[in-house]
Amino acid sequence: MISEFQEALLDTVGACPPTQIANNKYENVLENLDSGIMLFDSDGVLSFINVQMAKLLELPRSSLAGRNLMQILHLPELSRFKKKILRIYKETIFHRKRYHELIDEYGRHWLMTVTYGDQMDGDFLFSVKDVSDYKQIEQTAYQNDKLAMLGRISASIAHEIRNPLTAIRGFIQLLRPHLMELGRDEYARIILTEIDRANDIIYEFLNSSKPSAPQKTAVSVMGLLKEVVMLTESEALMKGCQIALDENNELMKVSIDVKQIKQVILNMIKNAMDAIESISGEREGCIDIHTVLEGSYVHICIEDNGLGMDHNTLSRLFDPFFTTKESGTGLGLAVSYRIIKNHGGFIHVDSKHGMGTQFKITLPVV
Ligand SMILES: Nc1ncnc2c1ncn2[C@@H]1O[C@H](COP(=O)(O)OP(=O)(O)OP(=O)(O)O)[C@@H](O)[C@H]1O
Ligand SMILES: [Mg+2]
Repeated sequence: MISEFQEALLDTVGACPPTQIANNKYENVLENLDSGIMLFDSDGVLSFINVQMAKLLELPRSSLAGRNLMQILHLPELSRFKKKILRIYKETIFHRKRYHELIDEYGRHWLMTVTYGDQMDGDFLFSVKDVSDYKQIEQTAYQNDKLAMLGRISASIAHEIRNPLTAIRGFIQLLRPHLMELGRDEYARIILTEIDRANDIIYEFLNSSKPSAPQKTAVSVMGLLKEVVMLTESEALMKGCQIALDENNELMKVSIDVKQIKQVILNMIKNAMDAIESISGEREGCIDIHTVLEGSYVHICIEDNGLGMDHNTLSRLFDPFFTTKESGTGLGLAVSYRIIKNHGGFIHVDSKHGMGTQFKITLPVV
């Protein structure tokens, strides 16, 4: 029996029976999901693929439907995915893995879920979802955890070292008159200066590994950049690279902790010099620094034509203690990341291995 409502519906959509309308509706939903979906039957033949999945594979659906997995694997347009597809196939069939994480050439993270079993009548359903934003949140949390731990460790080390240093300092001062009598006051002076230097190093380390709340003042971005460039120019010259500062947006001001932001930019310029030094001779090294005003934000771009980074380095760049340098601490960028976050800004990185790198620090303008 067809109800009045269904009859009216049939009149408006043509002569489709109700089950077909429902099927069309569900198919429409599947077609327009923001996840990519692919269904293979028990013979491995692709029986359904939605628009999003075809978009991800960058192929028209007509060239895929009705083909089996082997035929799909041999499509020249999919050759770049071949290794990944084979890996997923092996892990699904032999290891019964149902979740796979993939990273594409643009660094985006994808989660592929495979559903099969009795309820699927022998079919295999693959769905792919872009999870880059979740990954970003996860990474930030991980980063913050590590930095907090680093802060605690360094605070306790500093505490342990400072105490004996204070005791040594006190006793040297007590001994000073006797050393003076012996004509050795110079020794006492040297010991005291060295102890003070050690204390300063610990203080600096503590400050940099666990940046305090920024003490903000409004300063000109260009003024600050000029100062930092001046500080690094002689080292750059020695390492065979040129620093080019594009002096525009002279009046633009940011409210920052000058010491902390200087530390960030200095570290980035030093990293750029190192990246250039490691390809020395290949091409003339150049570090280009410029600013771009966008709405209420300013981007400070530091670009080098050095070694660049591979995917592994890029993904661990802000991890504390991650370094590819023999004498690096791997703290520079981890600390920079935290400082910029504390200023309500963010850091964006673009890099091509063998070509160069661009760091973009974004800060709110006054
Ligand atoms: N401009 C760049 N070009 C190429 N690689 C870079 C660049 N900046 C950073 N890196 C990579 O990121 C890693 C981490 O950098 P980070 O500044 O945190 O530590 P580091 O420079 O190794 O040590 P430190 O800063 O203590 O001297 C570097 O070891 C390097 O591999
Ligand atoms: Mg560094």
